[in-house]
Amino acid sequence: MELGLRGRRCIVTGASRGIGAAAAAALAAEAADLALIARSADDLDERARALREEHGVRAFPVVADLSSAGGVESGIAGAIRELGGVDVLVNNAGASPFGSLEQIDDAAWRESVDLKLLGYVRGMRAVLPSMRAQKSGRIVNVLGIAGLAASEGYVLGSINTALSHITRSTALAVAADGISVLALHPGPTATARMLSGLAAGAEAAGVELDAFVESFGRRSVPLGRIGRPEEIARMIAVLASDAASFMTGSAVQVDGGLNRSAV
Ligand SMILES: NC(=O)c1ccc[n+]([C@@H]2O[C@H](COP(=O)([O-])OP(=O)(O)OC[C@H]3O[C@@H](n4cnc5c(N)ncnc54)[C@H](OP(=O)(O)O)[C@@H]3O)[C@@H](O)[C@H]2O)c1
Repeated sequence: MELGLRGRRCIVTGASRGIGAAAAAALAAEAADLALIARSADDLDERARALREEHGVRAFPVVADLSSAGGVESGIAGAIRELGGVDVLVNNAGASPFGSLEQIDDAAWRESVDLKLLGYVRGMRAVLPSMRAQKSGRIVNVLGIAGLAASEGYVLGSINTALSHITRSTALAVAADGISVLALHPGPTATARMLSGLAAGAEAAGVELDAFVESFGRRSVPLGRIGRPEEIARMIAVLASDAASFMTGSAVQVDGGLNRSAV
């Protein structure tokens, strides 16, 4: 299927590694142009260079800390300047630590709200003027299955619940301007963040990380394993593309069947 992403100007946040890096690669494989935002300049430079060489697309590294209003404003403005506009925003940067209500202190709440909740809200606000002016645009918010299915060990997953609501309400607010806003809920996916979370469990159980990850996937996920970043990235590319042209406000789960809710 031709996804129609050729030459589309896409901004991906949190693109230096993990799901964001895989999303940038999936979009570049469809001939989209990219601005990659994160804090690690060297990783971004390397990723952008690889995308240019492998796919012949334009790919720009944009260094920004997205946990402050100024960081989001300058990061998104820099990305729009490099690309000469914006057609797609993939909001993905997040780093909420795992832990229960009693384990997560106010500082961790504030950092997670600043980066993931306000970072996504500010990111959407920053691209909407350009998208409204051109009467088209697509925003894909990478949330998380923990926003749909409560987990005693991940209270900060609730930020994804708030972002589900914000995704849908924003979709309604901008639909008349030809802009779609979608959510994607990954299940557990093998990224640095998820593996470092599982490393604590492996240590407590006294087993090797690989064996612990394999048994976690077998026990917790109906498909019997955790996901790969590329599996999340493929769906991000679909949601960013013309293949999703009659979708807005929707949420897609890519979780190996983990969320059993019927609604
Ligand atoms: N992996 C999973 O199992 C899973 C499941 C559900 C949902 N998710 C969601 O998917 C998204 C990506 O997660 P991931 O697992 O790919 O994480 P990851 O491997 O840790 O990557 C996180 C990305 O966010 C960037 N980032 C972190 N803090 C930042 C900041 N202050 N400013 C700008 N960029 C920042 C990081 O780059 P720098 O450090 O270079 O800034 C990195 O590129 C997150 O929103 C997460 O909640 C992940």
